[in-house]
Amino acid sequence: MMRRYVDVRSHTLHLAQPLSAEDQQVQSMPDVSPTKWHLAHVSWFFETFLLSPALPDYRPFHALYGFLFNSYYEAVGPRWSRPERGLLSRPSLDEVLAYRRHVDGAMARLIATAPAERWDELAPLVELGMHHEQQHQELVLMDIKHVLSLNPLSPAYAEASAGRPAEKAPPIQWLLFDGGLVEIGHEGPGFAFDNEGPRHRVWLEPFQLASRLSTCGEYLAFIEDGGYRRPEFWLSEGWAALQREGWQAPLYWREADDDGFRLFTLHGERPLDPAEPVAHLSFYEADAFARWSGRRLPTEAEWETAAAKSVSSLSGPAFHPRAAVPMSGLQQTSGELWQWTASAYGPYPRYRPAKGAIGEYNGKFMSGQMVLRGGCVATPAGHARPTYRNFFPPAARWAFSGVRLADDA
Ligand SMILES: [Fe+2]
Repeated sequence: MMRRYVDVRSHTLHLAQPLSAEDQQVQSMPDVSPTKWHLAHVSWFFETFLLSPALPDYRPFHALYGFLFNSYYEAVGPRWSRPERGLLSRPSLDEVLAYRRHVDGAMARLIATAPAERWDELAPLVELGMHHEQQHQELVLMDIKHVLSLNPLSPAYAEASAGRPAEKAPPIQWLLFDGGLVEIGHEGPGFAFDNEGPRHRVWLEPFQLASRLSTCGEYLAFIEDGGYRRPEFWLSEGWAALQREGWQAPLYWREADDDGFRLFTLHGERPLDPAEPVAHLSFYEADAFARWSGRRLPTEAEWETAAAKSVSSLSGPAFHPRAAVPMSGLQQTSGELWQWTASAYGPYPRYRPAKGAIGEYNGKFMSGQMVLRGGCVATPAGHARPTYRNFFPPAARWAFSGVRLADDA
C-alpha cells in the first residue's frame, strides 16, 4: 500500500515539474483550478478523511487549509469560492509542497501503525484517496492546457515526441452487436468508484458501433457543410450554447489565414492533422456531428458491452490523442479520448451513496450531466476501466473528449 501511495503522490509532482510557480497559479475560467490548488486539495483529502479522524495526535498543517482546499464537501464545512481559487497567491507553491510533505509523513505513520482491526475500514479510504489523486492528475493536464491556450505565446507543456507523420485514418468498420439481456457495472474484486455499481441487467436492441473514434478530417467536413450554422443538427440547448459561446469549431481549433485550421495542444500550436481523433467537443457538438453523419451516439450500456469484450489501447499515456491504426475490431476504447455517450448521468438501480461526507464524492452530481466512457491520454495508467463512468455538463469542452459513432442494427 505504501509503495503505491508513494508512486501516486510522486507522479502528481512529476506532472507539475514542467510548470513554473507562475504557471501553477493561474485560473483561466471557473471550471479550471490552478495546479497549485490541485496539489494542495489532494493532500487535504488524505488529511480530512484519514489523518484527522484516524491518526492519534495528528496536527493539521494549517488551521485554515481546510477552508481553502475543500472542494465541494458540504458535510466538512464552508470553503473558499471555486471561481476565485486563482486569487490564492498565498500559500506559496513552496508552502503547498511543504504541506504535501507533512501529509506524506503522517500517511506513512498511519499506514505503518494503524491497528489491524481498523485497517479494514481505513484501507478503502487510502485506496479512494489514491484514485482521487489520479483523477486530479488528469485535471492538472486538462486545466493547464486551457491556461496555456489563452497565452498568445502558445507555450508548450511538453516537447513533442517524434510521432508518426500525419497519415490517413483507416476507414471506420461498423461492428455488429446482438444486444439482448446484458449486465453492466462493476462487481467483484478491485477498486471502482461507487457510481460504477451495482452491476445490473439492461436490455439492448441490436446495435452497431464504429471501430474507431471520429477524426478531425471527418469533423472538418461537418464544419465545411455548415454544421455550426444549421440548427437542424442541434439539440435546442446545444444551439443556444453555440450562439451564446460563439462556437464555430471545437475548443483549441484556430482558424489560420490560408491553410485551414491550426490546433493548440500540450505540445504547443501546430497544423491540424485530419487523421487524428477530434477532441475537446461538448456533448452538444458530438451529438450534432452524429446527427449530421446520419448516426447517433452510443448509450453507456452499449459502449460498456462492446468495450468489455475487447479492450484495446496504444502504448501508455501521452499528451495528445493518436490516430487509429489499421486493424480489425474495436480500437481506441481507452487511452486516447473520453467518448460522449447518449446516457444522462444518473444512479444505477439500487445505487446508494456511502454514509457521511464521502457519500458526496459522486452521488450528488447525478443531475444535468452526461456520461463519458473510455479514458484519455491524460488518464494515468491503470486508472480507467470499462465500467468507469466519467461525467461532465453537456456544454463542457475542456476535457479530452471525443466522439465514437453508433447506430441501430
Ligand atoms: Fe477532488
